Amino acid sequence: MSLLLIQGDITKLECDAIVNAANNSLLGGGGVDGAIHRAAGPKLLEECRALRGCDTGDAKLTAGYELKAKFVIHTVGPVWHGGAHGEEKLLRSCYSRSLKLAYDHNCESVAFPMISAGVYGYPFDQALEVAVSSISAFLNECDRDMTVYIVIFSRRDFRMDKNFFGSVRDFIDSRSAPKRFQGSFGFTRNAGAAPMASSAMLRCEAISDDACEDSSIEEFIRTRIDESFTQMLLRLIDEKGMSDVETYKRANIDRKLFSKIRSNMNYHPKKNTVLGFAIALRLDINETADLLMKAGYALSDSSRSDLVVEYFITNEIYDVNKVNQVLFAMDQEIIGQY
Ligand code: AR6
Repeated sequence: MSLLLIQGDITKLECDAIVNAANNSLLGGGGVDGAIHRAAGPKLLEECRALRGCDTGDAKLTAGYELKAKFVIHTVGPVWHGGAHGEEKLLRSCYSRSLKLAYDHNCESVAFPMISAGVYGYPFDQALEVAVSSISAFLNECDRDMTVYIVIFSRRDFRMDKNFFGSVRDFIDSRSAPKRFQGSFGFTRNAGAAPMASSAMLRCEAISDDACEDSSIEEFIRTRIDESFTQMLLRLIDEKGMSDVETYKRANIDRKLFSKIRSNMNYHPKKNTVLGFAIALRLDINETADLLMKAGYALSDSSRSDLVVEYFITNEIYDVNKVNQVLFAMDQEIIGQY
């Protein structure tokens, strides 16, 4: 159950369904429509003819023919006329109608191009916002595991809200200054050649000697020292009063992976999976560092992707899809399931 941003040519994807940004006639055209018809072969046009067109905001399904995808879902996005002509509602409807068709045909994976963001002129950043929010609303309600890809044809096209993206970049620039070995959060970072310390060591650096003699600290260490990543994750889920489903959905992680983690107390997750959970559970920066540490990782000032995640956490923006848009724009691996 996850939403993934990827770059590439949608016609090459091996998934259950790919979505076509078609026109009302469904008889082919330029852009992604032309590419899909060329790759699928003439039988696709034959089947499309029988469909007798499609309304804007609606979707229709055909076979995939020579494509690797089993199905093509043809949807007709709105032409951009400045935004005050119901464009957003129609674009949302493209996503929800297409996803409903994919669900009804038992698709486990479906890939969308950026509908309306080409010839139809919808501004890319706004089209992306509609795509991400429509797909995540669907996935949040969905009772089956589905992976939905948003396929960005060319990284050069990729645009995010400039102000937001600018503030993340400013943060990264300010944090990437040289010779910074001390984090501002009361713990020493794993910078340069500094060896990675244990969670308990880091905690003692952050507090005074007196505090270390406090029996509550000893008790804390005694009860927590052997906690594995999985145990800590499950404890945090309980402490935050969240359900498992809510957690893995907000982390952009599917049920299968979550079950694997849940059933193996010694599970070793990828760093990006841990970061997905940190966002899902709205952890603060110290809690994030602890959870990472349980899996043998640390946040580093020399990693752009770590700094992006840190920006979101310190600004309490706990939206994994927003994090991933920024990571994608910066050519970094996205978090959650990847
Ligand atoms: N894979 C993934 N994305 C692609 C590909 C590809 N192979 N090719 C283009 N894109 P557009 P629209 C991206 O113009 O705006 C057609 O003529 C492209 O970079 O294909 O909905 C139809 O027949 C852009 O981001 O679709 C309609 O008349 C996005 O796909 C009209 O265009 C959509 O661009 C529909 O216009």
